[in-house]
Amino acid sequence: MKIGVIGLGFVGLSLTSVLASKGKDIVGIDVDDEKCANIKKGISPFFEPELKKLLKIGLGKKLKISTDFSLIKNSDIIFVTVGTPQRSNGSIEISMIKSAVKDIGKILKNDKKNPIILIKSTVTPGTMQEIILPIIEKESRKKAGKDFGLISNPEFLQESTAIRDTKFPHVVVLGGYQTRYMKKAEKFFSEIHPNIPIVITNHQTAEMIKYANNSFLATKISFINQLSNICQKIPGANIDDVAKTIGLDPRIGKLFLNAGPGYGGSCLPKDMKALINFANRVGINPTLLNAVEHTNNKQIQNIIHLIEKTLGSLKNKHITILGTAFKPDTDDIRDSISIELIKKLLAKKVTLTVYDPKAMKNTKSIFKEKIRYADSISHSLKNSQCMIIMVHWKQFEKINDNSINIMKRKFIIDCRRVLSGKKLNSNYYAIGIGKA
Ligand code: UGA
Repeated sequence: MKIGVIGLGFVGLSLTSVLASKGKDIVGIDVDDEKCANIKKGISPFFEPELKKLLKIGLGKKLKISTDFSLIKNSDIIFVTVGTPQRSNGSIEISMIKSAVKDIGKILKNDKKNPIILIKSTVTPGTMQEIILPIIEKESRKKAGKDFGLISNPEFLQESTAIRDTKFPHVVVLGGYQTRYMKKAEKFFSEIHPNIPIVITNHQTAEMIKYANNSFLATKISFINQLSNICQKIPGANIDDVAKTIGLDPRIGKLFLNAGPGYGGSCLPKDMKALINFANRVGINPTLLNAVEHTNNKQIQNIIHLIEKTLGSLKNKHITILGTAFKPDTDDIRDSISIELIKKLLAKKVTLTVYDPKAMKNTKSIFKEKIRYADSISHSLKNSQCMIIMVHWKQFEKINDNSINIMKRKFIIDCRRVLSGKKLNSNYYAIGIGKA
């Protein structure tokens, strides 16, 4: 069986590496020359635990990486994993996916194989039926369901656990018509993921499931963040105990109830905006989704309020930010709340020093000489008047009284309650814990 993957971002490269490491005959295609050249050498374009190891194993087997689209000819399965970035009105930009499926259509025209094309890219309901399918049929002069299979196959992997999630997804969703291609796809996935539920539905529902999933996760986060703000006003109240306990109710579940500075990253904020935009377009006023987004946007103000309450005017104050990635175990800073905070503090003329175990290079590429970059926690805290922990990196748990001795003022705002169990000799505020 020959497999092609188009688009080597988090989803595409993780999938390619996992399948290649199992010895599958697979080709990964991307338009970016430099990215492909690096991947061929075993260098991943981003940090993701376990990815490098699997990529190397795959490269030692049958994995090919190329910018040459024609290599997908004669594939049995083609995955489309290109990005669908956000437009300024919140809707998604689908030019990359249009261009990818146009190229697939052209190749299909003279292809003897009858491949199954699986669209993993996140697209709003109706996109497959109204845009993708007509493009491929027009370019290939072939018929979906007869000459080739076309299936919506949304992805649920999380960055930082992308490899584990690719190997062991909690569900496989296959959306499309009940054809022989659907049966083949079901067989393919049940072989690589035995015992994992496979949901077979139509295109529109599969597309909607993806947005339902991410918007529900965002709702859980905004819910707990709002409750954490209330807890903060109750001396001694602790949001983690609240979350842990309600999480024991199986109807609620314990995951995604970690209060913090708000959800960031390249997916939840974008998908929330796209779903809100879509709902409005179909004539539904998405009151709950709007509130979730509004709550998320406001969360950063709580942090700024806490700093100003203690430091007064922030002009020329020296503040340290620990963690710039959008979450731990990644170097990804796209739509990171920490990056947002840095921008807001720079506008208030703060002198900023930042430290992140993995995301320094990406952070430098945005702020250049506007902020200072430390190479360790202790270096970042020298003469600082406030430390803000934005991301729960494991190594931040080691911070103790010795580490903060070099601060000019021992004032800590802990947005992830990393140090809440320690009694540090400091003026300590944690998001979600009422100061007694
Ligand atoms: C998210 C979804 O979790 C994946 O299921 C989905 O496949 C992916 O988007 C996507 O659409 O591609 P990801 O963007 O990697 O995955 O990040 P998450 O782990 O969901 O975290 C998003 C943000 O929420 C982060 O800023 C994180 O710190 C925050 N978060 C998460 C919280 O503040 N509290 C929590 O309890 C969980």
